[in-house]
Amino acid sequence: MSLSRRTFLAMTGSIAAVGAVAPQHAASADQARRLRLTARLSRAHLLEAGQPETAVWAYDGSVPGPTLHLRQGESIEAQLINQLPQPTTIHWHGLRIDNSMDGVAGLTQPAVQPGKTYSYRFAPPDAGTFWYHPHYRTWEQLARGLYGVLIVQEASPPAVDQDLIVGFDDWRIGENGQIDEASFDSMHDISHAGRLGNILTLNGKFSQDFEVLSGQRLRLRLLNAATARVVSVRFADHAPLVIALDGQPVSRPFAPRGNTILLAPAQRADLILDCDGEPGQTSSIEVDVGRETLVAGRLVYGTQRRQRANTLSEFPVLPANPMPTDINPDDASPVDLVMTGGARAPFPSAVYQGENLSIRELVRRHKKAWAFNGVVGFPDKPLAVFANGKTAVIKMVNRTAWPHAMHFHGHHVREIQHSAREPSPHWRDTIFMRPDETVTVAFNAHNPGRWMLHCHMLGHQRGGMSTWYEVG
Ligand code: C2O
Ligand code: CU
Repeated sequence: MSLSRRTFLAMTGSIAAVGAVAPQHAASADQARRLRLTARLSRAHLLEAGQPETAVWAYDGSVPGPTLHLRQGESIEAQLINQLPQPTTIHWHGLRIDNSMDGVAGLTQPAVQPGKTYSYRFAPPDAGTFWYHPHYRTWEQLARGLYGVLIVQEASPPAVDQDLIVGFDDWRIGENGQIDEASFDSMHDISHAGRLGNILTLNGKFSQDFEVLSGQRLRLRLLNAATARVVSVRFADHAPLVIALDGQPVSRPFAPRGNTILLAPAQRADLILDCDGEPGQTSSIEVDVGRETLVAGRLVYGTQRRQRANTLSEFPVLPANPMPTDINPDDASPVDLVMTGGARAPFPSAVYQGENLSIRELVRRHKKAWAFNGVVGFPDKPLAVFANGKTAVIKMVNRTAWPHAMHFHGHHVREIQHSAREPSPHWRDTIFMRPDETVTVAFNAHNPGRWMLHCHMLGHQRGGMSTWYEVG
């Protein structure tokens, strides 16, 4: 155990060093550890070797942005410096923090204007794999490269030899090697599957090799940062186990069905993967993107072997996070959320900013095509108001011809009913729904404030799939 722990520290030297000097008990804002993120224009090498660099918008100039390593409960002050030509914010996706720090422009804070700075203060209550991205023109800013991974380390992390980020993204790149900007507001994309890319990257690279040794145990932190693309990930020749989903530990590690991990936009999965291949072997990381399977990267085995201290049978179980998990669905009256619109099943009319408009007018005047309960976009009134500490139940009905990735801010939720299968027992902040499915979720509404609930296929969000709920 101590041996593999030491190996892990040695392999992540600089990160471990930063962690080592962080205050153990940072109680007040004055003692908060300071982080700084500059959102600015940059260039990234997203394409194959020999191809040009692509102009991007990025945190500290890199895609993905810097990985933030926080400790559970540690006080952080994160300063955003906006050097973009647009207003922006940072949303800390999946963190159950104070509502005023949630980073949603127009709901929890005003957008940060170009040239201005803004400070976020919070202490992450849960350990796990999270991420951060803007919440202002998100469909554009995220697609331009503004996002990064946020790791909240467990008090005693499981012993692994390498702790690796496996972040998928897709990009729509034109002939000139640059981001296709004209399609950000493409009505076709908004009303269909969203703005799908034509280039898949892993950790911002066209292809990424991970150097491993036979006998090593890896912790892999998967993220789908694409704005529309659903990915199904497979590690050829290997059989990983899932230990956490959307930042919340699963109660018992499990082998994913078909050895494949499906990630809708914004979803994460933490895996344990034992490198039981032979020295010198390479194995591909395959991504099924719908019509084809791409190789996004490889596990490349060195010529040495590593003597493993832990055995294959002892898979680590992560400790549960301090999340109120007591839910009594019988005490709550379910709130309906009926999803309509989009191509192939458009609604005749819906309400936008208080006006009842035909689909034709919505499309032509506002580039809107989707509704929740007949209301397009961001309503003045919340979908529901839940009493603090009580069970909230939301029944989501997908009456559209498209899949969606329903993301809840401020809370993780659990399926209690599913029209197509057994409800999943895992806590998630983003629920993948296929056409015609009905999924009822429940959670303990313990985090007061105004929280977004929207589709994380961001063209859909832009096109009207967006609402909010309040915890009083
Ligand atoms: Cu990942 Cu509303 O956001
Ligand atoms: Cu959607």
